[in-house]
Amino acid sequence: MATVDKEEIQSNGSNRFIYLTAALAALNGLLFGFDTGIISGAFLYINDTFAMSPLVEGIVMSGAMAGAALGAATGGKLADKIGRRRLIFLGAIVFFIGSLTMAIAPNVPVLVAGRLIDGVGIGFASIVGPLYISEIAPPKIRGALTSLNQLMVTLGILISYFVNYAFADTGDWRMMLGTGMIPAVVLAIGMVKMPESPRWLYENGRTDDARKVLKRTRKTGVDAELAEIEKTVEKQSDSGFADLLEPWLRPALIVGLGLAVFQQITGINAVMYYAPTILESTGFGSATSILATTGIGVINVVMTIVAIALIDRVGRRKLLLVGTGGMIVTLSILGVVFYVPGFGGILGWVATGSLMLFVAFFAIGLGPVFWLLISEIYPLSVRGSAMGTVTVANWGANLLVSLAFPMLTANIGESFTFWLFGICSLMAFVFAHRLVPETKGRSLEEIEADLRENVTDPVAGTGEGASASSRE
Ligand code: BGC
Repeated sequence: MATVDKEEIQSNGSNRFIYLTAALAALNGLLFGFDTGIISGAFLYINDTFAMSPLVEGIVMSGAMAGAALGAATGGKLADKIGRRRLIFLGAIVFFIGSLTMAIAPNVPVLVAGRLIDGVGIGFASIVGPLYISEIAPPKIRGALTSLNQLMVTLGILISYFVNYAFADTGDWRMMLGTGMIPAVVLAIGMVKMPESPRWLYENGRTDDARKVLKRTRKTGVDAELAEIEKTVEKQSDSGFADLLEPWLRPALIVGLGLAVFQQITGINAVMYYAPTILESTGFGSATSILATTGIGVINVVMTIVAIALIDRVGRRKLLLVGTGGMIVTLSILGVVFYVPGFGGILGWVATGSLMLFVAFFAIGLGPVFWLLISEIYPLSVRGSAMGTVTVANWGANLLVSLAFPMLTANIGESFTFWLFGICSLMAFVFAHRLVPETKGRSLEEIEADLRENVTDPVAGTGEGASASSRE
């Protein structure tokens, strides 16, 4: 067994094609991250061009998230219908049109339309990136390859900070937003050369094409993998959205929805979107705050790389537990520091350090593990729709937290807001401990078989009592 594993890892390791394909597909993550980060900088200057009321500001800001929820709601079904590859292409085009519309917007309604279109592209990208990569990846390195998408999300956010900085002098928000067209073009061109997901091909009766793709992306085990895919495809009747509610799928749906919501209500985007404001309140000047924000962006990227290095070795569960555990501790400290009236000096540094560690713990746990697990735990026939459903929940919760954060800090104060996020992190820890399955090293078909076996006892399928293979 050990020799086989070694052999497989070695042959996968030499397969440049699979790495290149996954890296290109991960550009979906770059679009997603870039867009969430760029708007915060652009916003400072859009106000000089168009006079906006706070309500209109809110609409412009949240337009992309609403669009993303819409994109996620339709993208899952589309991924099942037209295929993963075509959806990536479509997403890139939509994203390009959205960025262009915003860059040339002559007035606020057109700007909002651009944000919405852009959001739909992000919604597509946030589903189809991890979905596609997880389906073309060999099981042994699926965690690392799929998490490349999350790495690109963090890189996208960081690049957006730099782009904001580069155009800050001129205040050229049109250029800031228009820059998003570049990765969209690269993705659209790159996609032409990429293969379709072998699993989707098989499911759609294109067995020979599926075999060809597996041969290109694996050196060993093609027949065995194909036989496994065949077994799961045979078991499915034609599935629709209603099938998601079937008892045997319920545990997976609960895990996906739970992680989707916890990923957001533990406060990551309050930090990502409002970091400069939070840092200024620790007593730093504007320039230092912006620099420290870039530092947070760098930590996010670096810790995601650490997660990628570990995820197929230590597994998803451990990373999730360590990550949420660390978030509980750092958020508690932040709550204490902000409780001290008019704190500064050394406490200012403690707050900044805790904020950075909080992001680091998110980046090794909830950040990558959520997107990876939801691309692994759903059966092929409903994978697109299921991912669509949980991704909508993720964007919905994101929108809620982004809108609520300024109101929360104004009403209950920063201290209690951080403690609230801390309590949510505690709930996320317990949830992960009780219900999240280990999927490390197992084929997508094995994961599905486990789900079917555990139909009589949903919790046993995923939590404490799960079978040895799923908890290994
Ligand atoms: C989340 C985003 C977040 C990003 C930060 C992603 O996994 O879904 O909402 O902004 O991580 O790195």
